[in-house]
Amino acid sequence: MKTVKINFFVSCLFIFFLISCNKQQEEKTPPIVNQPEMEIDLLALQAKNKLGKDTVVNISNDPVYHKTKKYHAVNALLLLKNEIDLSKVDIKNTLIVFECIDGYKPEMSLQLFLNAKPYLAFKDVDAPKGSNWEKIIKNGNEMNADPFYLVYTSVSPDDQEYKWPYNVIKFRLQSKNKNSEALQPKDDEKAMKGFALFQKQCITCHAINGIGGEMGPELNYPKSVTEYWKETELVNYIVNPASFRHKVKMPTLGITKQESQQIVEYLKYMSDHKKVNSN
Ligand code: HEC
Repeated sequence: MKTVKINFFVSCLFIFFLISCNKQQEEKTPPIVNQPEMEIDLLALQAKNKLGKDTVVNISNDPVYHKTKKYHAVNALLLLKNEIDLSKVDIKNTLIVFECIDGYKPEMSLQLFLNAKPYLAFKDVDAPKGSNWEKIIKNGNEMNADPFYLVYTSVSPDDQEYKWPYNVIKFRLQSKNKNSEALQPKDDEKAMKGFALFQKQCITCHAINGIGGEMGPELNYPKSVTEYWKETELVNYIVNPASFRHKVKMPTLGITKQESQQIVEYLKYMSDHKKVNSN
């Protein structure tokens, strides 16, 4: 008699859970209008041993080391798919942003990332004893790729659309329009060209109104660079920073004087549109 009662009780509980679970599922899947930002903290995943299966990848003509390299790595595509339900993401209108230790924030189209074979390298097979990586020498500065370096086995290193960031700590998915909406010079045709150049060449390292990379200084808030640099010097600096500062960290980007002038027009426009945003 007692067991029948208990069985009945357990069945009721089971049915109750079934109903409440179904209800929860219904509530959890509203149409995604404004998709939220999605972030993957790679160090946190590593600490939990959840990066995925180790493998070794060969990269011919590695664009950072300029030779053929071998890395211990995990499949970055599987990692992304394990952490984020991509069926809920509007892939065509989404960017993948890579956050690096020094504030460098390169980004690329999520679609391109998904089309490639990206791997997250965590150790260089040829590293000298006692170190995870061979040293990287850049502009006379010595660096290493810790903790992660993003590589591709299927992409030519000359393909500028693909980013190969090292010192990466986070992946973030972000709507393509997010930065454009906040930083676009809406009512000024002349500044538009400079804005397009700025988005392509500068925003990985510099923020405007708090939006953008943090490797270089914020350029607009509270004081715009156009307010404390002479205009002609600013144009020249953007073309060739090393002609102004010894051991400069800002690279020479191959920008023409005319393009630099257009960027400065954009910076002048933004100096009249200051606002702080949290990044
Ligand atoms: C790879 C990162 C990187 C990129 C890309 C980059 N910069 Fe820089 N920039 C820096 C860093 C770092 C500094 C700080 C000075 C230094 O050490 O080079 C700097 C300094 C500057 C300064 C001087 C700021 C001041 O207050 O004196 C200006 C202006 C500037 N950058 C504009 C630009 C523009 C415009 C672009 C795009 C065409 C650009 N930068 C692209 C990293 C970068």
